[in-house]
Formats: sequence, C-alpha cells, structure tokens
Amino acid sequence: MSARRPLVIGNWKMNLDYVEGLHLVQQLGVLMKNRPVEHVEVVVAAPFVDLRSVSSIVDSERFSMSLGAQHVNANENGAHTGEISTSMLKRLNVEWVLVGHSERRVHYAMSDEIVAQTLSAVVRAGQHAVLCVGEERSIRESNTYCQYVTAQLESALGGLDEKFYNFVTVAYEPLWAIGTGVNASPEQVREMTSFLRKELRARSFTSPQVIYGGSVNAENAATLVGESDVDGFLVGGASLKAESFYAILRACDDCYAVKR
Ligand code: PGA
Repeated sequence: MSARRPLVIGNWKMNLDYVEGLHLVQQLGVLMKNRPVEHVEVVVAAPFVDLRSVSSIVDSERFSMSLGAQHVNANENGAHTGEISTSMLKRLNVEWVLVGHSERRVHYAMSDEIVAQTLSAVVRAGQHAVLCVGEERSIRESNTYCQYVTAQLESALGGLDEKFYNFVTVAYEPLWAIGTGVNASPEQVREMTSFLRKELRARSFTSPQVIYGGSVNAENAATLVGESDVDGFLVGGASLKAESFYAILRACDDCYAVKR
C-alpha cells in the first residue's frame, strides 16, 4: 500500500432495500465505533432509493463514513425519464459517485463519450468521481490491457480541465475479476496501480489515487493491500455483510498504520 490514506468503497449494486441497507449501516457503524478504522476513508455506494435513509442514520449516529452513488446522469435536469442528477444526489449529501462501472458500460450501453460527460458533470458539481477502468479477459490474454485502459483514461479525461483532477479517483477493475471470485493477484494489481499512476502523472495529476476492485474479500484484502501499492478498494459482494466489509477496512487500516 502507498502512503496515501486508503479509500474503501462498498458498491452494493442492486442489492439491499432501504430497510436492509439501514440495518447493514447500523451494524457497520457499531463495529467502527467499537474499534475505529482511523485512517480509512469509508464510502457506501447504496442504491438511489436507500440514500436518504442511509444519509439520515450516518448523520444522526455520527458514523464516520460518506455516501456514494453508483451512477448519475450527466444532464442537469429535464426529460430523462428514470434518471437522477448530480444536484439531486448533492441534496442527499452524496459526496462520491462511481462513473463508468463496467456493468453500466456493458449492460447499459454507457459509451466512452457518456462516461466522459458524466465524469465532467460529477466533478463540476463538486463531488468526487471514481472513474472505473479495466479490461475483459480476452484483452488481458492478448496482452494489450495497458493500451486498453490508457484509451479509457484518455477518453474520460481528455476534455477535463486540470483544476478538477483532485476530484478524480481511478478504480482499476478488470472485468474477469468482478464477481467471479478470482481476484487479480497482488503482482497484477501492483503492475496496474503503478502503470495508472504513471499515466495520470503524465497528464499532470499531482497525487493520483488508484484503487482496485474485483473479488476483494475479507480473506484476500490483507494480502492485496500489503503486497501491492494500491490506495484502497472498490468492493462489491463483500460489502453486503458488515463483518466482511469491516474486515477489509481493518486490513487497510492496519496496513496503513504499519507503512506510514
Ligand atoms: P465484486 O465487485 O467485489 O463483487 O467483485 C466489485 C465491483 O464491481 O465494484
């Protein structure tokens, strides 16, 4: 792990209604109060319909976690049936937004162009954008994954003013590792983290933050964080249970405390 403060985001995807979400956050909050994860920035990216209840409990119980959304529409308002805007999210104290998650790109036709527009809308609204990049298995096997993620970065960041760079985190999420139980190895994570940081520095990012996602769980988090140079994790399945998500937070906190 690098010397930067770790960021761990729980991506609940389309799981947990607001009652279940409240329950999970309550349990997580208790674990975090009993033994704080002092150095970790904790974010829960809940479904839209859970955000208001989760926001209220985080506020009233003073849990040290921030709220994230899994997606947003790039437009400010108007005739976009079924969509949600950045200002709606801001009203609910949402500070983080995932942009271009592979499930949006693959199943909901989110093109590179829409990813770029969404990223721009998020940072202009003063929210943190988590730009998801990553290759599918065939691209990894053909050894062109570095070029592939470079192209994803270029199209997302190409038109963005440098003054917004501090609001952009990059999540390396290879598709072959998402929800498969096969995580990237620490060596693979290390290679991509350092590659992405180099690419971002070349684009004038001063302190690029790169996290990893793909089958991170309570069992592999300590090894992944200890043996790669990653700044944190984007966690799907293992964020749905307080104990496993908390174990991942602990692994990051312990590692940071040792390395700092
Ligand atoms: P996973 O999902 O941890 O269930 O693999 C990660 C993600 O899609 O963000």
